[in-house]
Amino acid sequence: MEYCTKSNADVDIENGELLYDDGEHKFVWLGWGRLEDGLIQTNQYLIVHGKKGTLLDPGGIHIFPKVVSNVTKYIDLDDIEYIFFSHQDPDVSSGIPMWLSVTNANVYISELWVRFLPHFGITDLSRIKGLPDSGGRVGELEVIPAHFLHAPGNLIVFDPISKILFNGDIGAAVFSDTNKYLFVDKDNFNSHINLMEGFHKRYMASSNACRYYVNKIRSLAPKMLAPQHGAVFRFEAVDMFLNWLNNLKCGADIIDEISR
Ligand SMILES: [Fe+2]
Ligand SMILES: [Fe+2]
Repeated sequence: MEYCTKSNADVDIENGELLYDDGEHKFVWLGWGRLEDGLIQTNQYLIVHGKKGTLLDPGGIHIFPKVVSNVTKYIDLDDIEYIFFSHQDPDVSSGIPMWLSVTNANVYISELWVRFLPHFGITDLSRIKGLPDSGGRVGELEVIPAHFLHAPGNLIVFDPISKILFNGDIGAAVFSDTNKYLFVDKDNFNSHINLMEGFHKRYMASSNACRYYVNKIRSLAPKMLAPQHGAVFRFEAVDMFLNWLNNLKCGADIIDEISR
């Protein structure tokens, strides 16, 4: 097996799914816990290469036990080398004191946010590594700038082996409790727009920022886009999403409409 081709009906929501697995390298979606009232649902991901692991936006306090239990199905916590945060929001990074205490990993985030993280309750900043606006690398992973989508310092991660792009909040969808699913394919892309549009129009900074991202990502030709909320775009739906975002008016473009 390389890419997951399961239908949405067959997805294991409790335990998560391998989005990519070639035996040596895995890209894992870590499943959903039970929704707590008023919390936005989040996706957490783990990349395993050989014996070593990287966590992507592992999330806040409410989901910590669930994420730990699913991570340890694939890897010992001691073997997590890197933890990556796309930006500073609490749904992304407020679990940082707990992750620092149960792993030996270093944490990577845009350097804009390093001095804000202590407010989540940590005193030792030595394991927090600020990344420059240009991105760079975390291990073998490519860190891609995607600023203003939505945070002013916003970084995402391209895995060159699986060709899966961890997309942070870009491509996020807001599900109801009763209708949620893991994959967006070409058949359900159009209905999925309804769950993305409000979020992108209000949170993403401008169409200029969107188009900058789309050009960059087209050159990477990812097979899947894995966002921090909502569903994973796979195969043909990747291009459909990029086309949709390329034409979206949002944020500063529609400030009159938003502020009315
Ligand atoms: Fe966010
Ligand atoms: Fe988010």
